[in-house]
Amino acid sequence: MTEEQIKKASQHFENLVREQLERVERMKSEPDWTDFSSLEKIIIGACSGDGIGPAITEAAIIVLKFLLDSQIKSGKVEIRRIDGLTIENRVKVMKAIPDDVLAELKACHTILKGPTTTPWKGNKYGWPNIESANVSMRRELDLFANVRPVRVPEKNIDWMFYRENTEGAYVLGSQGVDVSDDLAIDFKVITNQGSDRIIRAAFEYAKKNKINKVTVVTKANVVKKTDGKFLSVAEQVAKEYPEVEWDDWYIDIMTAKLIDPARQSSFKVITAPNLYGDIVTDEAAQIQGGLGTAGAANIGKIYSMFEAVHGSALKMVDDGRERFADPTSMIKATSMLLNHIGFSDQSVMLDKALDICSQYEKKMVVTGRDTGVTGEKMAEYIIETIKDPDLEKKWQSYQ
Ligand code: IPM
Ligand code: MN
Repeated sequence: MTEEQIKKASQHFENLVREQLERVERMKSEPDWTDFSSLEKIIIGACSGDGIGPAITEAAIIVLKFLLDSQIKSGKVEIRRIDGLTIENRVKVMKAIPDDVLAELKACHTILKGPTTTPWKGNKYGWPNIESANVSMRRELDLFANVRPVRVPEKNIDWMFYRENTEGAYVLGSQGVDVSDDLAIDFKVITNQGSDRIIRAAFEYAKKNKINKVTVVTKANVVKKTDGKFLSVAEQVAKEYPEVEWDDWYIDIMTAKLIDPARQSSFKVITAPNLYGDIVTDEAAQIQGGLGTAGAANIGKIYSMFEAVHGSALKMVDDGRERFADPTSMIKATSMLLNHIGFSDQSVMLDKALDICSQYEKKMVVTGRDTGVTGEKMAEYIIETIKDPDLEKKWQSYQ
């Protein structure tokens, strides 16, 4: 019996190694970045997800349509709805992303994505423990950079996280083995190519924005092979950016230093393998005011996807409160999308309006229940703020 178990586990491992070696080869012949300015028409897929997803995506679409009104009318931009990425549909076909939905996603140039429910073991809804749609989409569309900005002006915090998004503890997260009833093994994958492209993206961002500091987060003193590789690739890449200083921290002390008032504002651009990036960006979002305030860009060379950092909040739907869900994170994601596809003026205006509406003026607030306004009302408030010819002046007055 034991011999058989060992053989089965070894065979499984062999298959994974083969797949990963093939992935490395694919990465070696990666295409160049999409040039949005050369596209005749940009197709934005609006994928509403499930839970509170449809409600907050709808609010974001209202804002997006307003900002790209003339481009939509002239046919330069199309907003295409993709509604099939629900937990019910995914469970029906037992796939993280149903094939038809994946094909629809791949027919777009960029995607605005609402949260999607990630089932967990023993959930009360009776869903099988299928793979997360997020993890699958990041892998299928090769969205290797998870870019998450966090700003807290009064604490002088201006962080930009470059979380690796396609490898680490996640890429085989659903392909571990139960060797026996007593022994479970998961796998963590780090490659030269995967590390190089994310670390390079972080350094490029720093260089382009004249930021003199990149911080690399690992646990390379303990997890020696994979984290060790990420760190040594960082050393190599850093040599190509002599104008950018860099340092490295271990994930445990990093989580402490992010809340250390004496140290926190010294971090600027931070890059980390997948799971550590997941952890520190939740922590950072909380420092900013909560997960509802954070948006994330998932960027690859061909595709890109923009989303809220938080989940689908099924509890709110169970209570019938989804209309009152905070769409700020999705609207923040919309601003990142606009910037990525070349509409930086619209993105800047939206950021300013978001600052005014949710941090300074706060004429309306969303509380997640009927003590506050609906997400749709919030979107209208943001649009009114953008329309104000004195937007810039108003924003300046709060600085
Ligand atoms: C995030 C989320 C996802 C992740 C979950 C939903 C799989 O927490 O985007 O950070 O862990 O990456
Ligand atoms: Mn997370």
